[in-house]
Amino acid sequence: MSLEVVPIDAAHPDFVGLASGIDLTAPVSEQLACAIDAAMNRYAVLVFRGQPLTQDQQLVFARSLGPLDLGFKRVARPHARLAYQELADISNVDESGQIADRAHRRIVGNLANQLWHSDSSFQQPAARYSMLHAVVVPESGGETEYADMRAAWDALEPREQRELEGLEAEHYALHSRFLLGDTDYSDEQRNALPPVRWPLVREHAGSGRRHLFIGAHATHIADRTLAEGRVLLMDLLEHATARRFVYSHRWQPGDLVIWDNRCTLHRGRRHDLSVRRELRRATTVDIDRHAASQAEQLEPAHGVR
Ligand code: OGA
Ligand code: MN
Repeated sequence: MSLEVVPIDAAHPDFVGLASGIDLTAPVSEQLACAIDAAMNRYAVLVFRGQPLTQDQQLVFARSLGPLDLGFKRVARPHARLAYQELADISNVDESGQIADRAHRRIVGNLANQLWHSDSSFQQPAARYSMLHAVVVPESGGETEYADMRAAWDALEPREQRELEGLEAEHYALHSRFLLGDTDYSDEQRNALPPVRWPLVREHAGSGRRHLFIGAHATHIADRTLAEGRVLLMDLLEHATARRFVYSHRWQPGDLVIWDNRCTLHRGRRHDLSVRRELRRATTVDIDRHAASQAEQLEPAHGVR
């Protein structure tokens, strides 16, 4: 069996691939990991259907694509329903396994996921691949949408592109929470992840294509007033998330969707909070996996020599 990828539909020929031919529970060879990278570089989103995974299987598969990210868990850990810190519990389920009350803290996190964002853009290194797996999904609502930041860049006028070159945006982990009125964080939590700066326009290492890098974690533009920077960020977001750049994924249990956070934005869509929605995410950091495994060999993690 080998990886096969075709465009998911005629509307997204260079953006979303429907992947088949491999079993996500089987060990991933170096050759297969490279094939997945190549497909991710051509497309930015890959959809696998009908592959129910245990937590362990999801984690093993994710690890084979790179070192894993903890992201927002370094600021706050609402509760650990899942077995591993490296798995994000993208659900409306509480500690006891019941549907969470709509005032439950973790629901705010879900709602923040409904703002267009790139996972962990608030840290350095940020995220590369996010792998979201559907366990239980509502009948309506709760789709996840993806926007193509390479196509959005390509569609700007040369004059608009020139205006953006050289600008940097600051990204901060709690910005989207503050925006939603969720401000109950200690100084320690506020300082756990200091803001980072990213160019507004970047080159995607895997394809050499240029793309916008924006989203809900971006607070302002360096060397511009707050007002000017925010208006620019809002304007770019409006452009980049026009329907022609967006793929909407309607979940089925057993789906695994992988996206490249470097050159996409995503958001969850509204759904009935009293109906169970349960997904799990593992995410790699944007570090070359070969460089990461070499560093591990040089410096064993637990001081073993
Ligand atoms: C995520 C995320 C959106 C959704 O898992 O990173 O943003 O649809 N999820 O749940
Ligand atoms: Mn996300």
